[in-house]
Amino acid sequence: RPRILSGVQPTGTLHLGNYLGAIRGWTALQHEYDAFFCVVDLHAVTLPHDPAALQASTRSVAAMYLAAGIDPAVSTVFVQSHVSAHAELTWLLSCATPLGWLRKMIQFKEKSKKTGEEVGTGLLTYPVLMAADILLYQPDLVPVGEDQRQHLELTRDLAERMNSLYGGKRGKKLGLRGSRLFRVPEAGIVDRGGRCMSLLDGTVKMSKSAESDASRINLLDPPDLIRKKVQRAKTDAQDGLRWGDPDRPEAANLLTIYQTITGRPQEEVAEEVAAMRWGTFKPLLAEALVEHLAPIQQRYADIMADPQTLDDILEKASARGKGGAEAAGAVAHQTLDDVKKAMGFMLPH
Ligand code: TYM
Repeated sequence: RPRILSGVQPTGTLHLGNYLGAIRGWTALQHEYDAFFCVVDLHAVTLPHDPAALQASTRSVAAMYLAAGIDPAVSTVFVQSHVSAHAELTWLLSCATPLGWLRKMIQFKEKSKKTGEEVGTGLLTYPVLMAADILLYQPDLVPVGEDQRQHLELTRDLAERMNSLYGGKRGKKLGLRGSRLFRVPEAGIVDRGGRCMSLLDGTVKMSKSAESDASRINLLDPPDLIRKKVQRAKTDAQDGLRWGDPDRPEAANLLTIYQTITGRPQEEVAEEVAAMRWGTFKPLLAEALVEHLAPIQQRYADIMADPQTLDDILEKASARGKGGAEAAGAVAHQTLDDVKKAMGFMLPH
């Protein structure tokens, strides 16, 4: 079976963008692909973080994967720092990564603007860690939101560079399949929802780090808070609700959220809302969100009430017989061994 891998950082609470851009898509893909879903906790320390909160947020993200419909009986769910190969491959890849490639990354440019030379090196090398997360599992597809496209491109470039440096004849001698070290993965970005925008400004993406909590719907927001946030969402004064007008980014965003959360075709929704005013539409949107998120929140509460079972899924027992860390580790260490051999390291006996 073809394979997928993806992950979410355990920083802040997960929001609708994480769900529509990534996690919801995974729940469908897991039945067609051999699937690996990782809580990328090593990424959560690139910026100053609170050590006392990291464990809880790591568990919380894993619980949210399951609550949203990731089935540990068919998918491997694990914590990045439990598989040491991620950190180790990062070093090997970073030695083959030109500095210029990393300096070009939009996220680095944006986030380092404020801190200048004081910025942690991890913020610069972050995309190499992400490339390691991916390449260790030799996936065919990496389902992510639009904002990760540039990181995916760097991952592909890096895979090709490593293949040409250490694959080829050397790889052939080692018996690597197709003489390549790494499969070059595709980015799987959903058509709609791949870029979910802030409720307060339709031109910036919904994000965990935005200062105002009113800019996002968190997956764990209670119904009344969801209603309040939707009510406060920015709209415009034009008549008729429709997509496709570049001057109406808020309209496009709210309609897209409504369409994707209800899972209906765009034409049908367009017809339903065409003559509405925002005052009629907003309660519809709020109720659709509440209705969709309520069962996820219920499952989340059940999973969090039994942390032992959750930890077992991540570490020890699952329906496959192996825990996430063990199942993921077996695949990752196989790739890491091949890379070390191809790079000429002396392997221990
Ligand atoms: P992160 O944790 O910021 O976001 C997790 C996923 O949610 C998507 N996403 C969005 N999609 C649509 N609209 C939005 N407003 C929105 N905000 C976030 C992201 O695109 C992502 O798919 N570097 C990654 C985590 C990562 C990773 C990996 C992903 C580390 N290693 C390996 C895939 C494979 C990140 O910070 O995502």
